[in-house]
Amino acid sequence: MAVAFRGVAPSILSADFARLGAQVQEVLDAGASTIHVDIMDGHFVPPITMGPLVVDALAEIVHGAGGVIDVHMMVERPERYVEDFASAGADGITVHAEATPHLHYALAAVREAGCRAGLAICPGTPVGAVAELVADVDLVLCMTVDPGWGGQAFLPHSLDKLTRLRRMIGDAPALEVDGGIDVSTIGQVATAGATLFVAGSAVFGTDDPGDAVRKLAEVVGPVVRPAV
Ligand code: DX5
Ligand code: ZN
Repeated sequence: MAVAFRGVAPSILSADFARLGAQVQEVLDAGASTIHVDIMDGHFVPPITMGPLVVDALAEIVHGAGGVIDVHMMVERPERYVEDFASAGADGITVHAEATPHLHYALAAVREAGCRAGLAICPGTPVGAVAELVADVDLVLCMTVDPGWGGQAFLPHSLDKLTRLRRMIGDAPALEVDGGIDVSTIGQVATAGATLFVAGSAVFGTDDPGDAVRKLAEVVGPVVRPAV
């Protein structure tokens, strides 16, 4: 099993929800160790997706395979829900810098709940939003599309942003990319310093999600940094 919070992280947003467990098992069997779960509240972003019940439903299968659940909260005032997701089985909880005026508090709550604390920034948010919180995060998520929907095209300006983020946070925290990651973009973001690669449509939008994970992992295998 690959090291968690590193490598390809399939996003179940693009999965077939009628057979979610089987689809997650397929990508775990293919070597993915991080399962990305997108929580959308209809306020921070327009769509409404999943809540703690889905995390709870997947926890046994993911943890049984030695994997982790990476919860991406596209939710206003995410600090209100940290405990719910942690109790449901989340291993990492990522909150958006744009979603609360109490970021330090929210990140501390995530760590107190026993989870990896992640800080996400949207494409329009400067890297400086992370600067005061470097000591408080285990993971930084750089959105490489606007949050809310799968299947969008990768924003090329993200490459320079990733380089600046990696310089700012140092080697230790995971640097996650989310949006438009496929075999043509994953190598570039890895070279720019990313270590955790969310892929939704490039995995679950194909006929063979396991094979898609293996093909993505093949591209980044040689350039991914040491485990964090
Ligand atoms: C979008 C979500 C992503 C989404 C990515 O707001 O945060 O995790 O699943 O989808 P793709 O990989 O299709 O761009
Ligand atoms: Zn996401």
